[in-house]
Amino acid sequence: MLITKTKTELRAAISSLKTEKSLGLVPTMGALHEGHASLVSKAVVENKSVVATIFVNPTQFDNQDDLKKYPNTLDDDISLLKSISENIIVFAPTASEVYSNEVKSASYDFDGLDQVMEGTYRDGHFEGVATIVETLFRLVEPTKAYFGEKDFQQLQIIRKVVQSKNISLQIVGCPIVREEHGLAMSSRNERLPKKVRHEAAFIYNILQKAKKKFGMKSATVVSDWVRQQFEKHPLFKLEYFAIANSDNLKEIKRKQPNVKYRAFIAVYANDIRLIDNVALN
Ligand code: PAJ
Repeated sequence: MLITKTKTELRAAISSLKTEKSLGLVPTMGALHEGHASLVSKAVVENKSVVATIFVNPTQFDNQDDLKKYPNTLDDDISLLKSISENIIVFAPTASEVYSNEVKSASYDFDGLDQVMEGTYRDGHFEGVATIVETLFRLVEPTKAYFGEKDFQQLQIIRKVVQSKNISLQIVGCPIVREEHGLAMSSRNERLPKKVRHEAAFIYNILQKAKKKFGMKSATVVSDWVRQQFEKHPLFKLEYFAIANSDNLKEIKRKQPNVKYRAFIAVYANDIRLIDNVALN
């Protein structure tokens, strides 16, 4: 396992591979769990070489407290990556290595994909994500890059960046990995008290029931029903629930034939924000 900290070290490691033309990239912010591991394992199977990056990107945090509390578990992360493959190249830079003097996002036109859901509640978040992801694409020049459907809006925005900037690589979307009782895995789950973490299965249960109802009822009826369930729940505060077109992420009023829909949710458990989503059809 090669651990690089600077762009020069990373480029040197990649240029020794260059003839292979089969390089997978898995960007992460560390505190790795089985969700991240599923992306890395897929990348290892599908590519001759894999770069996994571990970088808590400051420009995507709209909440400085969240950034400060973000866990740093580099040694454990490296052990987890080693257990998947000894051949992975790790890139774990500092913020000044990535951003030089100015820790600032570039601007992007996401064609409205950032005007809904997470974009409404997290100011500047997707510009920060796009800035770091584009930087990594240009630095690593991968043939494929892997992202989880856990952050489905992020996945669609990254696809948009790649398309609009004509970056030549394939984006691979990977299914959500869940805890045994259904809660989507997240580094933030570690911060939940044990009881709350267990009860948080409620979020996925509601999504499953919403999916079932969506077969028979309108989006409005299903959304109202979900809101009522959260009003009654003592532990979780609903931030948003939306049923949207999977491609353009526009919230729908009426179902159309041959269109794929997804339900998206953001919930607070104490001060911890959890997001999840499911395909509806
Ligand atoms: P992070 O939250 O560390 O997630 C890294 C990747 O793992 C993302 O593509 C995310 O969708 C995926 N992932 C997280 N939990 C998952 C789960 N339970 N199942 C499947 N995939 C999961 O997302 C980021 O970091 C950052 O925004 C990043 C893209 C690295 C840019 O800084």
